[in-house]
Amino acid sequence: MLTTLAIAGYRSLRELIVPLGRLNVITGPNGSGKSSVYRSLRLLAEAARGGLITSLAREGGLPSTLWAGPERFSRAVLAGEFAVEPLRRKDPVSLRLGFSGDQFGYAIDLGLPLVNDATRFPLDPTIKRECIWSGPVLRPSALLVDRHGPALRTRDERGDWQTIPQPVASFDSMMTEFSDPRSAPEMITVREQIRSWRFYDHFRTDADAPARLPQIGTHTPVLANDGADLAAALQTIREIGDPAALDAAIDDAFPGSRLDVTTQDGRFEVVMQQHGLVRPLKGAELSDGTLRYLLLVAALLTPRPPELLVLNEPETSLHPDLLPALARLIARAAAHSQVLVVSHAARLIAALEREEASQSIVLEKPFGATRIADADDRDLPAWKWPTR
Ligand SMILES: Nc1ncnc2c1ncn2[C@@H]1O[C@H](COP(=O)(O)OP(=O)(O)OP(=O)(O)O)[C@@H](O)[C@H]1O
Ligand SMILES: [Mg+2]
Repeated sequence: MLTTLAIAGYRSLRELIVPLGRLNVITGPNGSGKSSVYRSLRLLAEAARGGLITSLAREGGLPSTLWAGPERFSRAVLAGEFAVEPLRRKDPVSLRLGFSGDQFGYAIDLGLPLVNDATRFPLDPTIKRECIWSGPVLRPSALLVDRHGPALRTRDERGDWQTIPQPVASFDSMMTEFSDPRSAPEMITVREQIRSWRFYDHFRTDADAPARLPQIGTHTPVLANDGADLAAALQTIREIGDPAALDAAIDDAFPGSRLDVTTQDGRFEVVMQQHGLVRPLKGAELSDGTLRYLLLVAALLTPRPPELLVLNEPETSLHPDLLPALARLIARAAAHSQVLVVSHAARLIAALEREEASQSIVLEKPFGATRIADADDRDLPAWKWPTR
């Protein structure tokens, strides 16, 4: 389980340390940084999948994603006596992402290439530092894998450092470049851990949404990100998952309704028998909210729970009356996975707060930088970034 998430220099997250529990609800006013927390977790996941630099480029590259405020706030600015003045940067450009759990910690530090580097990609971020350590906080003695620019070294069983002869490319995470299970088993463990994280963000429910159409189906223990394989995923829950929980989730939200999956020529389609209708409705006929709820049911009742499940604003287009049922589904998923929900639906947040082992993380953004509301620095988990 992750116990700490740390982000520095990413959009409004100038330096944010988030303590994580079993079931976490991230909330806060518009513009407080909720989506940025979600996106930074996705970026971390991309690092393990080899897509970090491309994902950053799609967001506008480092210049756009970097914290746009001053490097330091003077006392006078904090006291409201002076406005923030643009100053020349003194510190190197740096975007840092990291997490730690009971077993391992990981951090990556991205910067810009040196001016005299011959490259046509001067705005491509380069990876300056990347570390894996054991335990919750980085200490020199706890370091297991240590990357300094292109140089990578790992610690063997006796505790001696071994230098890896091949340099690591400036734009690749060491986790994707180097995968020798003998000399760096921790690297494989951390990489596989991150790769197992699952993200769901705004399922499409428009008239042409793939979830509405009949689709070729195979056993689907994990719902796709776009929900295209909804019918197959629901049928898989019925056959190898928890069919009683599936029926209960439908009945909880739409009392008296029944969900079915029909197949024709290998194509799977969702149909729903609703109270008061003489024929069942097909996927194309379901309301946006109903379809989105079914997608969330398929994601949350997965027969193959991930270590970490992240949901971004799952309440979108759901009627407030459905939110308690959704909260019960999320709480159920938290029995098998660590769950992080980004939300600003008061009813969903209130219902989740009543669940055991849940914690709310309320973000606020005074002076343009996101912080956790009412958090005393002493309550936050200890965190140390690797230095360049
Ligand atoms: N490079 C940057 N430096 C500093 N702040 C930035 C930067 N880029 C964006 N921001 C600000 O960061 C804030 C956080 O945005 P984010 O989308 O995470 O908010 P949110 O909590 O998800 O809001 P909403 O509820 O409206 O979706 C925004 O107010 C945005 O103006
Ligand atoms: Mg947002």
